Amino acid sequence: MSGRVIVVGSVNVDLVVWSARLPAPGETVSGGRFEQHDGGKGGNQATAAARLGASVLLLGAVGADSFGAQARSALAAAGVDVSGLATNPTEATGIALILVDAAGENVISVASGANLALEPDAIEAELARLGSLVGDVVLVSNELVPSTAAAALRCARAAGARTIFNPAPAVGIDVSLLEFVDLLTPNRGELAVLSGRTGSDFDAASAARALPVREAVIVTLGSAGALVVPRDGAPWPVPATVVEVVDTTGAGDAFNGALAAALADGRSLEEAVRRAVAAGSLATTRPGAREGMPIPAELDVALGS
Ligand code: RIB
Repeated sequence: MSGRVIVVGSVNVDLVVWSARLPAPGETVSGGRFEQHDGGKGGNQATAAARLGASVLLLGAVGADSFGAQARSALAAAGVDVSGLATNPTEATGIALILVDAAGENVISVASGANLALEPDAIEAELARLGSLVGDVVLVSNELVPSTAAAALRCARAAGARTIFNPAPAVGIDVSLLEFVDLLTPNRGELAVLSGRTGSDFDAASAARALPVREAVIVTLGSAGALVVPRDGAPWPVPATVVEVVDTTGAGDAFNGALAAALADGRSLEEAVRRAVAAGSLATTRPGAREGMPIPAELDVALGS
């Protein structure tokens, strides 16, 4: 029997403007097109895992506003259990303002609202309510108060779960929390921040080795795929699936959600990373963070299986 995927993370509504290019500071670029999408790293990751058939529970918070109601119903429609998604009576639902250019690259500015009002105690209580987490995968991202993310990882480990920490954004992270992390999934920039190593001689494998996680660091490399750096053993690369990129928003979330789903389903780390890389690539082929996230049949086609 498959384990559950429990996602602890943010829920946002994404307000997106598409234009030919991104403006420089102080510049106005006209002629864009507006779209509204469901977003937030936690909501996106939960959706990616649910779309791949996992049993998914999301712990997070929205505001008592129309954006919150919409975010909740979109998650429920995607098959995510939202019984642990709190409604904060005083804070607004998180909003992300996103600009996307013709190449699908983006810049994002987030007003976190209810996401940053989520206290460690609340997450601890929700995780305690779930009892034993043996066989389950708990996926935590950092668009929360860092102490809340840390509490989630600590409780998840204590309850027997396998833990994945997606350190995005890499702000305010106390690296001592890495002792509760089985798999860490930074991109190169996040890895540089966490390892304290920067500069032209930056080497992802040696930076990853410096981080004391239990199992492996999986460095996501965008169109170059991913590099898996096990705690013991040689690093191994996983190439990306070649796709026509429309919008890179949410690609990392698709990667993380697919990784968690595959591991909860009992797949090996190697197979799980291959599926995660393919899911991240496919997610870039449609506009919005969630629209391109694959169903199992699409993933099988991309993987040639
Ligand atoms: O990772 C992509 C997400 O980051 C967007 O959906 C946006 O809401 C921000 O949280």
